[in-house]
Amino acid sequence: MIEIGTFTGYSALVIAEALPEDGKLITCESNTEYAEIASRYFQKSPQGSKIDLEVRPAMETLGGIADHSVDFVFIDADKPSYGRYFDEAMRILRAGGLVFVDNVFWRYKIFKQPITNENARAIAAFNEKVKNEERAEKVMLSVRDGVYLIRKK
Ligand SMILES: C[S@@+](CC[C@H](N)C(=O)[O-])C[C@H]1O[C@@H](n2cnc3c(N)ncnc32)[C@H](O)[C@@H]1O
Repeated sequence: MIEIGTFTGYSALVIAEALPEDGKLITCESNTEYAEIASRYFQKSPQGSKIDLEVRPAMETLGGIADHSVDFVFIDADKPSYGRYFDEAMRILRAGGLVFVDNVFWRYKIFKQPITNENARAIAAFNEKVKNEERAEKVMLSVRDGVYLIRKK
């Protein structure tokens, strides 16, 4: 399992809770202050031993992961990089693996034309890219800020 964007570690701990005892989550965070906070909570939690926190740009961490070796990727970091994270997810996922993507409505700014906000433009381009991806089945859910659930064929 891979998480791109740890922040203070809340979602990592929730994912880890759902994993079996020998499950592993690699979570990627480039901000050292946030990583320190997350690390503190991981050490306090019984789920912490399932989590590896990688403190560097996510693309570096993803680059070290073998093809077809993971079951789940959660994309929740810098919005302009979503397309690159998705390409990496498609490379590292096994067939049947899932990508879960947060904020695909970007505060509903993707619906207001013309799109002027930089993150909203990036997200709109990402959504279009995923829509046209033939190697995956996908559904967009109108939960809170929008989530994309994508299954690699
Ligand atoms: C929305 S927060 C993640 C929230 C977390 N997934 C949760 O639900 O609790 C996004 C995080 O991605 C991190 N981030 C931004 N760009 C990054 C990059 N290039 N590599 C790794 N982490 C990055 C930010 O520092 C921030 O902590």
